[in-house]
Amino acid sequence: MTTILGIPGSLRRGSFNRALLEAARALMPEGAQLEVAGLDGIPLYDGDVEASQGIPAAVTALKDRIAAADGIVVATPEYNGSMPGVLKNAIDWCSRPPEDQARVLRDRPVAMLGATPGRLGTILAQDAWLGVVRTLRMRPWYQGRLMVSAVHDLLDDEGRLVDSNTRDQLRAFMAGFVAFVDD
Ligand SMILES: Cc1cc2nc3c(=O)[nH]c(=O)nc-3n(C[C@H](O)[C@H](O)[C@H](O)COP(=O)(O)O)c2cc1C
Repeated sequence: MTTILGIPGSLRRGSFNRALLEAARALMPEGAQLEVAGLDGIPLYDGDVEASQGIPAAVTALKDRIAAADGIVVATPEYNGSMPGVLKNAIDWCSRPPEDQARVLRDRPVAMLGATPGRLGTILAQDAWLGVVRTLRMRPWYQGRLMVSAVHDLLDDEGRLVDSNTRDQLRAFMAGFVAFVDD
């Protein structure tokens, strides 16, 4: 079984990016599963805290889930034309200590997608992640792109992704990424 870890880059209970990943759970290809990890409990990075107390428990838990996954899918919101601080902060923590990067992030297959009520589908946020992914020497999947615009029009009253076109795109995106991971 191929296990993909989805990381929604938002703490918001009604997060559209989390909704995208929740929808993807049921759209995975045969032989693959998607787990979703939250960012709750991850404090702001503080080098003094790291030096005196080590890696916070919530960060260690996320790092271990990333390390156990065959690949990760990051659902990034876009804030002011870039990635949101809460998500960047979590990935920064996950890159600590540097000696643990090989276990957690290096060569880890990664794909980006994102949803916004706006019109450009988080393309700027997704592109902003490329430099981070390169710095961490992850293995990005470039073949698929999924940028979901006007996402509020694509969900039902319970926040479930019901738009069939977007569901098809999400299914194809996940199948492509799983094929890349399994290759
Ligand atoms: C500080 C801030 C900046 C934002 N900047 C952008 C932006 O540059 N582009 C965009 O498409 N949406 C922007 N938005 C709107 C977000 O796409 C929207 O809040 C979205 O719901 C966030 O993702 P989530 O639903 O997963 O929490 C911004 C929102 C906030 C709070």
